[in-house]
Amino acid sequence: MDIPLQAVIRGTGAYVPARVLTNHDLERLVDTSDEWILARSGIRERRLAADDEQTSDLACRAARRALEMAELKPADIDLVIVGTATPDMPFPSTACLLLDKLGHAGAAAFDLAAGCSGFLYGLGAATDMIRAGSARTALVVGAEILSRIIDWQDRGTCVLFGDGAGAVVLQGERNNTGRGILSNHLHGDGGFGSLLALRGGGSRYPASHATVDRRLHYVAMQGNELFKVAVRCLTETAREAMSHNNITADDIDLFIPHQANMRIIRAVAGRCGIPMERVFTNLEHYGNTSAASIPIALDEALRGDRIRSGDLILLDAFGAGLTWGSSLIRW
Ligand code: COA
Repeated sequence: MDIPLQAVIRGTGAYVPARVLTNHDLERLVDTSDEWILARSGIRERRLAADDEQTSDLACRAARRALEMAELKPADIDLVIVGTATPDMPFPSTACLLLDKLGHAGAAAFDLAAGCSGFLYGLGAATDMIRAGSARTALVVGAEILSRIIDWQDRGTCVLFGDGAGAVVLQGERNNTGRGILSNHLHGDGGFGSLLALRGGGSRYPASHATVDRRLHYVAMQGNELFKVAVRCLTETAREAMSHNNITADDIDLFIPHQANMRIIRAVAGRCGIPMERVFTNLEHYGNTSAASIPIALDEALRGDRIRSGDLILLDAFGAGLTWGSSLIRW
């Protein structure tokens, strides 16, 4: 009997910039307070990229750490996917710029626009390309410098986001141990797109003095509405991954949801029946790093011994688009 081809995570890596912006620092920028931010979101501080850092620089540092753990070289990679809402520039893609910074050429490389779900979408695409035989070793990255698209005069958004990057190296492996990415479940609904959008700079509102005056190059968000949809979608797709694999919440060793808001995470975990002891969170220190949030959390969980061989890991993402999705992994 044929041994199935699985996509297996060989290494993880993360990088967050050195500069810390605390809630108290934000109190000096906008009308807010440490108590309000902590109570409403669970965030205490976030990282900000240095002026000379670009998204591909953050991605490169995270990618090198993932490659090091995998004991592989950039030349081994034949597929690069970067999930990002904040590319270095519209083109060339951050994936191509990253490939160049890694000193490698020739691999397939593309960016993926799925908001905060970008990493999970990338994981899904890479899994399928590996299983189909069109890639052997994939680098999947979530990298963001959200501080460059945040309106620092808007207290409703500027307190929530941070910069960072996370990466995984995936490889095809024939095994019948059940190890690898078990399933990916991806969804989108443009009908809710206006709840979280950056409208300027594209074909609808090309960059002009008027778009700058109207602050269209910044994130605009309806937080309250988004909160409710996020809880519903994250819950539905987490349950979808469990029912697809015929498991229950008791089987999940670690749940790693998108790190947007502690209240969202508690609500989703509660609805799915996963106790908080088996939920990984780090948003207290980084805020919402969009596509980078899940791979940074995965890397911290792994390096912090929260993941052991054989564990069942559930990833759960939600973001602009709207997009959402889940992945179940046997480690
Ligand atoms: N500091 C102090 N007050 C603030 C504030 C801040 N940083 N931001 C908003 N407020 C005020 C509002 O102006 C409002 O005041 P008002 O009642 O006088 O109008 C009040 O706080 C309540 O605002 P509301 O938006 O209803 O608060 P909330 O409980 O929904 O919390 C969010 C706001 C943004 C924290 C919450 O809605 C959220 O996290 N939503 C999801 C956002 C998200 O995760 N986005 C990314 C998805 S990938």
